Formats: sequence, C-alpha cells, structure tokens
Amino acid sequence: MRVVVAPLRIFPPGERRIVEVGGRSIGVFHIGENFYGVRNRCPHQGGPLCLGHLLGDAVADAPGLARISEDPLRIACPWHGWEYDLDSGQSFMGAAVAPGVRSYGVELSPGGSLAEGVLAEAPAKRIPGPYVAETFEVNVEDEYVVLHA
Ligand code: FES
Repeated sequence: MRVVVAPLRIFPPGERRIVEVGGRSIGVFHIGENFYGVRNRCPHQGGPLCLGHLLGDAVADAPGLARISEDPLRIACPWHGWEYDLDSGQSFMGAAVAPGVRSYGVELSPGGSLAEGVLAEAPAKRIPGPYVAETFEVNVEDEYVVLHA
C-alpha cells in the first residue's frame, strides 16, 4: 500500500510525521537526504517508539573535540530507552560493553602523540539487542513523500 505522507516542500530535514495506515501507527523521519519509516510500536513492551529522541553517535576529530554526529540514525523509545536503528530496526541498549563491571588501568603520559594512538583505535561497536522494530520503505515521488506500508 502506497500512502502519501506530505508534499516534500513542507517536510524538511529534521522533521517527523506520524501517520495511521491500516490500523498501524507509523513514524516517517526526514534525516539529511534520507527518509525512514518505523512502526510507532516498540517491540519491547509496545511503547510509542516514534515519539522518542533521535540519537547520533559521539565522535571526536581530536582530543577534547567530542561532538554528536550531525545526522541521528537511531531513536530511543520513551518508555524504557531501548534504541533502534532507523534503517534496519535493530535494537541496541547503550554502548557495547560486556555484562558485568570492567576495570581499566590508567596512567599519566605527556604529549599529543599519545592521543593519536587513541583516536586511531576503532570505535566500540554496539551489541545488538533482541528486538527489531518494523521498518518501511519511504521515497519521494513527484515531489511527494510516499510511504510503502
Ligand atoms: S516499550 Fe519501548 S523500551 Fe520498553
């Protein structure tokens, strides 16, 4: 089923719309150049997933210059905080760490050369959770945003 969500000219990047399609509530998100469609029902316990905060990743170009990536790619459910990838619907809960408490050695070292090694390391990967939100194709046809549900 194809559903016109809105004319593209009144649906700018950074906005979302929630539409009802065949008894289902679906969130449509315009982020950067892309559109995403996600069922507005969290697979954890049925919370209104598409009312949650959009999340970007923390990135750093240099020591002390941490920032959040420009385009958010995940949404956090407002009920219990499970995070979902907008594209795949895969759930995640926070940054990737093994269960339990970890301890780390800490030392003081001078100089910026140390930071180069730290920044060269691969970022921590997130551990997928057990839930997958239903996602939908969204595209632009003749200047209209169209949801395929
Ligand atoms: S209902 Fe969404 S995280 Fe629990």
